[in-house]
Amino acid sequence: MPEIQEHGDERMKAVIMDSYGTPDVLELRDVAKPTPKADQVLVRVLAASVNDWDWALLRGAPVNRLLSGLFRPRVHILGCDIAGRVEAVGGGVTAFRPGDEVYGDLSSSGFGAFAEYVCAPETGLAHKPAGMTFEQAAAIPQAGMLAVQGLIDVGLIKSGQKVLLNGAGGGVGTFALQIARLYGVEVTVVDKPGKLDVLRAMGADHVIDYLKEDFTKGGKRYDLILDVKTTRSPFAYARALTPNGTYVTVGGSMPRLLQTLVLGPLLARLYHKHVRIVGLKPNKDLAYMNQLFEAGDLQPVMDGSYKLSDLPEALRFFGTGDHKGKIIVTMA
Ligand SMILES: NC(=O)c1ccc[n+]([C@@H]2O[C@H](COP(=O)([O-])OP(=O)(O)OC[C@H]3O[C@@H](n4cnc5c(N)ncnc54)[C@H](OP(=O)(O)O)[C@@H]3O)[C@@H](O)[C@H]2O)c1
Repeated sequence: MPEIQEHGDERMKAVIMDSYGTPDVLELRDVAKPTPKADQVLVRVLAASVNDWDWALLRGAPVNRLLSGLFRPRVHILGCDIAGRVEAVGGGVTAFRPGDEVYGDLSSSGFGAFAEYVCAPETGLAHKPAGMTFEQAAAIPQAGMLAVQGLIDVGLIKSGQKVLLNGAGGGVGTFALQIARLYGVEVTVVDKPGKLDVLRAMGADHVIDYLKEDFTKGGKRYDLILDVKTTRSPFAYARALTPNGTYVTVGGSMPRLLQTLVLGPLLARLYHKHVRIVGLKPNKDLAYMNQLFEAGDLQPVMDGSYKLSDLPEALRFFGTGDHKGKIIVTMA
């Protein structure tokens, strides 16, 4: 994890987390501007977006504490997804130059997006297409990769299938809906009433309000289910699958994810139904996202934006779950 330096000649503003807790523990402070190492790129961050991992890290969810410090967080500046302009590069960097417009997910390189500057490894960044705004670019990396990897790499989505997206109104779901439609599948989306109109307007064929209907009990069967919440047992999800169908989860309740891991082989052997968990490969498919965007096939759904100083409010909004698509934070 990169250390924050309180002292240094060049300064920047960053939102600092010294302890786990509610968004009230976050503090906008002046800290030293980071200096890139040989393999790093210094990015002037112009936009960032909020992810579930920021929320979980802030709250100090038990699993996160195992990775990020039992009692006090080792990550002091939250934020995975950035978009901005290259300010300087280390001596070993070949893919980027000062002035390049870039974006990427920093979750595998120590976070740090909610600041005016951050250092990122060059492998953690992609060039931003000129027609994509910094806000749009900041929306894409983590949620977009989970949607692509969940549907395509793990779910092996095929034309003509019946596909259900559970938790479709958030970051991953709104990307997944757009990608699924490119495959010519019939898409059913599940979320709360306030989000279903947007999803319908984006081309969802069927909508289910999860407050009124449990899609695992309705008798309908799907060839592929992509879930961002995983609140039920793998047997319930298997019930909603066609023979040989696949359930793919990107995240959710830890006990349920463990059940999915343990019981998956049994479900495959007994019922020929497949349950899979996505392991995020950060930034792997950003070139594909660029292609989709430039072809007019991808429009990030955004909520906000919030100023960096209003990050606590942005995170509070994320915590309500009422956001549609991605919550954006801008630094300019
Ligand atoms: N696999 C990996 O390597 C990896 C890496 C990073 C993140 N993740 C995971 O990826 C997920 C991020 O998803 P996201 O960015 O799309 O989150 P998000 O923006 O919070 O969206 C989640 C959506 O699900 C809805 N929802 C809540 N409870 C639901 C339920 N019981 N049934 C159906 N929908 C429900 C939410 O609406 P309401 O809350 O308003 O109801 C919201 O619209 C998280 O689970 C995170 O842990 C996984």
